[in-house]
Amino acid sequence: MCGIVGIIGKRPVAPLLVDALKRLEYRGYDSAGVATLEEGRLDRRRAEGKLANLEAKLNEEPLAGHIGIGHTRWATHGVPNETNAHPHFSAKIAIVHNGIIENFAELRDELKGAGYAFASQTDTEVVAHLVSSLVAAGRTPTEAAHEAIGRLRGAFAIAMLFEDEDDLLIAARNGPPLAIGHGEGEMYIGSDAIALSPFTDSITYLEDGDWAVIRSSGAEIFDGNGQTVARQAQKSTTGAVVVDRGNYRHFMQKEIIEQPEVVAHTLAYYLDLANGAPKQIDSAIDFASISRLSISACGTAYYAGLIGKYWFERYARLPVDIDIASEFRYREMPLDKGDAALFISQSGETADTLASLRYCKGEGLTIGAVVNVRESTIAREADTIFPILAGPEIGVASTKAFTCQLASLASLTVHAAKARATLSDEAIAEMVHDLMELPRLMTEALKVEQEIVGLSRDLAHASDVLYLGRDTAFPLAMEGALKLKEISYIHAEGYAAGELKHGPIALIDEDLPVIVIAPFDAVYEKTVSNMQEVAARGGKIILITDVRGAAASSVDTLKTIVMPDVPNFIAPIIYALPIQLLAYHTAVFMGTDVDQPRNLAKSVTVE
Ligand code: AGP
Repeated sequence: MCGIVGIIGKRPVAPLLVDALKRLEYRGYDSAGVATLEEGRLDRRRAEGKLANLEAKLNEEPLAGHIGIGHTRWATHGVPNETNAHPHFSAKIAIVHNGIIENFAELRDELKGAGYAFASQTDTEVVAHLVSSLVAAGRTPTEAAHEAIGRLRGAFAIAMLFEDEDDLLIAARNGPPLAIGHGEGEMYIGSDAIALSPFTDSITYLEDGDWAVIRSSGAEIFDGNGQTVARQAQKSTTGAVVVDRGNYRHFMQKEIIEQPEVVAHTLAYYLDLANGAPKQIDSAIDFASISRLSISACGTAYYAGLIGKYWFERYARLPVDIDIASEFRYREMPLDKGDAALFISQSGETADTLASLRYCKGEGLTIGAVVNVRESTIAREADTIFPILAGPEIGVASTKAFTCQLASLASLTVHAAKARATLSDEAIAEMVHDLMELPRLMTEALKVEQEIVGLSRDLAHASDVLYLGRDTAFPLAMEGALKLKEISYIHAEGYAAGELKHGPIALIDEDLPVIVIAPFDAVYEKTVSNMQEVAARGGKIILITDVRGAAASSVDTLKTIVMPDVPNFIAPIIYALPIQLLAYHTAVFMGTDVDQPRNLAKSVTVE
């Protein structure tokens, strides 16, 4: 997703803008640019590709000025090139934008009719010319910005800079997040607190519909009607995040390896690890009284929710509806006011998930949010935050957030089972004990990494891969397929193993690697039958199982990865590790941009 920064400073801002943009790289982008105002004159540098290309341009042709805006672009309208890179200019105005202006075509036609020429294919340039046309019609910059924003339909976070106004930034938010940072005689704008962490931890988050007039002395915030609104500044918990890879080759590798530690942090929020019991946590959701729980999320977070469904239904006897958020928000499913809904989102900014939350809120449900960013929009609009303590996840492919989401959902399952009295105290204590063993067992499971490196070398030559699993390993099969395809660009599908003979078995031949995720559990024998069906047709099987499973299977495999024997309840969290490692090392062999795969964004803040 695009990243926005703006600074009204007391020092040259161009290098500061680039430093802030570097902290937004994890969001995914394909071009970047900065604009500054010097002696009343606007100037800009833009570059296709990574920020290093922009820095090279700035080294060749430095930009002076103590006020400026910057942008990393994730292309929606127009190819990723310098012409379409932000900031976009119109007469005396510079603008950066994150989101989609849905009525840009009609506005563009109107402005073309008024004589404006368009240099780019972007929807953003329309906003620049619209503001410019209003200034030309005699509005002040603030009036022009407010009037132009009122004409926009769609999702946008915007920052504007005006020639001859060296102490004015105007920002607006309707959808994608935007934060104002308060410094000492300096003021900042950023897409999130991480971008502003080098400068300040005093952050004010704009709400949807807000726009702000920012000067070095402070910010005035208004609603859509131009009325002043009070938005509380808060101390960001992001802190001066030192987001570096350490001695790892990629953020993704670092984030895979740190999972035992961050899962332990997450569990400690929900469980009294000393006494092996659930902790008293703040929860507006009364698991004892609800008759149904709706879950909605996207991508990896959705697969975590699918596993959560198995757990809530099996152990807490709580019926769960779950759907991908982009479908959920339009399905208009019948919902009961007395029930609850859970939204799972690492970033807390995913547009479809946020829209589904707002739909459920409108229906009167109690809203819970399993999020990694506690200041995010989804967190702020929920009745209850169920935090994951994964720390900033920089790699676009979600890893530690996934296992921390599972740790949170597993802990909430224990809370729900206790509240609904569906399990004995002994059974609950046993589940807590199982969870407490996770950090040790995950550390043990990660020891298969070298075995997986060799396997990944073979997998890198595949054009298609099939993942199979049953029960809670079925969502893992889909997650494994997603991991592989999103960072190695190899086509992969995850399927319920029992579904193989209902179609996918037609795909089986000696060129198709079949990865079977199968802890030794109640359905293991059924999965062995499926593996026999694959082997009988020459399929290459990679089995991920445990000691008991390896001993019980007579099927010839290309490779068997042996996990530690673990309780079935926590198996999905353990088995997530080999499928992450498999995807990571395959992508490394493929030479792809592992942390920022092509076309992807870390937080999808548009539909
Ligand atoms: C996961 O590897 C992907 N990057 C993607 O599917 C992600 O999980 C999805 O976009 C949801 O993001 P969120 O958790 O921030 O809402």
